[in-house]
Amino acid sequence: MARHLITSAIPYINGIKHLGNLVGSQLPADLYARYQRARGNEVLFLCATDEHGTPAELAAAKAGEPVADYCARMHEVQADIAARFGLSFDHFGRSSSPQNHALTQAFAGRLAERGLIREVTEDQVYSVTDGRFLPDRYIEGTCPNCGFEDARGDQCDNCTKQLDPTDLINPRSTISGATDLEVRSTKHLYLEQSKLKGDIAAWIDSKTDWPVLTTSIARKWLNDGEGLQDRGITRDLHWGIPVKRGDQDWPGMEGKVFYVWFDAPIEYIACAQEWVDAGKAPAPGDGADKDSLWESWWRTDRGADDVRYTQFMGKDNVPFHTLSFPATIMGADQDWKLVDYIKSFNYLNYDGGQFSTSRGRGVFMDQALEILPADVWRWWLLSHAPESSDAEFTWEAFQQDVNKDLADVLGNFVSRITKFCRSKFGEAVPDSGTPGEAEAELTQELQSRMDAYVRHMDAIEVRKAAAELRAIWVAGNEYLQSTAPWTTFKTDPEQAACQVRHGLNLIRLYGILSAPFIPEMARTMRDAVGADDEAWPTDAAAALGALPSGHAFTVPENLFTKITDDQRAEWAARFAGTRD
Ligand code: 2FM
Ligand code: ZN
Repeated sequence: MARHLITSAIPYINGIKHLGNLVGSQLPADLYARYQRARGNEVLFLCATDEHGTPAELAAAKAGEPVADYCARMHEVQADIAARFGLSFDHFGRSSSPQNHALTQAFAGRLAERGLIREVTEDQVYSVTDGRFLPDRYIEGTCPNCGFEDARGDQCDNCTKQLDPTDLINPRSTISGATDLEVRSTKHLYLEQSKLKGDIAAWIDSKTDWPVLTTSIARKWLNDGEGLQDRGITRDLHWGIPVKRGDQDWPGMEGKVFYVWFDAPIEYIACAQEWVDAGKAPAPGDGADKDSLWESWWRTDRGADDVRYTQFMGKDNVPFHTLSFPATIMGADQDWKLVDYIKSFNYLNYDGGQFSTSRGRGVFMDQALEILPADVWRWWLLSHAPESSDAEFTWEAFQQDVNKDLADVLGNFVSRITKFCRSKFGEAVPDSGTPGEAEAELTQELQSRMDAYVRHMDAIEVRKAAAELRAIWVAGNEYLQSTAPWTTFKTDPEQAACQVRHGLNLIRLYGILSAPFIPEMARTMRDAVGADDEAWPTDAAAALGALPSGHAFTVPENLFTKITDDQRAEWAARFAGTRD
């Protein structure tokens, strides 16, 4: 049994994610986790909310809530939606957890010990009224270039000029409107990742099997020199992980927190501790302590050397996962596990433009579930995963594709076979009839497609896997179409029984093979034919004879009701504008 550690990029806490976010990381990660579990492997699948940084503070302020309360509430909202989408995390943690606080501080202490952290004194704007240093985007004023009055400290939105907060005329705090701003010097910590450039470049070069999207982004950043410049890892914010050296205070760093991108990936590790502390891990073996439960996934000196670690993320997250987080891990030099494979995704666009959280454009996860079951979205999104290029969601394509795949092909097959069998042979698998040429051809086609499906799933080629699964459904439909048991029955009922028996076994086979993509519909199929053995079928002939004759089945509800033109038009109009 192989061991798979799987993480999805952790979504920001501020707000519900749109379908473009979902298909770029959490959903394909879930597909892979479900597949690996179905293959009988041991899986630890982790995700969390990314709760620190200015966006969290700003969103809380907008909602009129203390930031800690806002994060606690939004974590529950995101956890609930994830569960309703069937995202099968073993734990959905929080980057604000005590475990991540301690671990992030421990990493910083260790990196300092290894001579990889430099203290830098910088001039920064301090608001006397607010009693704090202000990050650039908390300062507004008049643009020296165009005179626009609401230019931000980092950029003027009117003329796009990049600014330094000290360039602004009449600067003010966006927190309080205060104008008693002063430039004061303040200390920050820099992670000297430039010292690790050679190691990281060699490590990326060794990953010859990684998707080109991942390695090309990593190389671009490495070679431009941008990504591996030393990086500020502290901020003057209230909300975040206080800067400490392990559990010791860090002189001069009082009141500061770690930069969100320093602590977020460390949460991948802390999340495994949260999983253990939440009592979800299996009990430790004799003589093993509690820490061994998460360390066996994360420490190569404590058993994680046989773990395969796969990360999922959108392309914008690749630099942080190929350069910055590995710099933290390598720099610490403590046998932490490095990622084995990074699966990254392009963007999904929405109806001729982009999904936009700020403008509320597109379909958000909660809205999606208001109008259709999760599996319908899962199927469409995964079968159109933006792997080799950006992909586009349009209502026309969505309606056409899901109606065809899930209703005309799969749903129709299940319903015809079960209903026909019930009417002619009763609600049990019929016994008689001998398989002939049609069944031999079906078996052969299924075998080669099942093999290809497994190859694509192992390689995390999501679209190819979906296409193969669809072809497996189509093969069943074509078998039914060409053998036509309803016609056969008139002249040769025994032969019709054999055809129906194959059909019922196909429903069972689909109920197992389809589960990673459409877990609910797959369960409906397995329940209908009373399939309790879920072992992954690798042998088509055996799978087609798995249900014994006389085995009871039921006719399930329609797997999926087609989307009508009226619904399509209504939804297209509803989601064209802005949310709220
Ligand atoms: O882009 C994002 O949504 C980030 N919150 C992803 C963080 S992934 C990781 F490093 F934790
Ligand atoms: Zn300007």
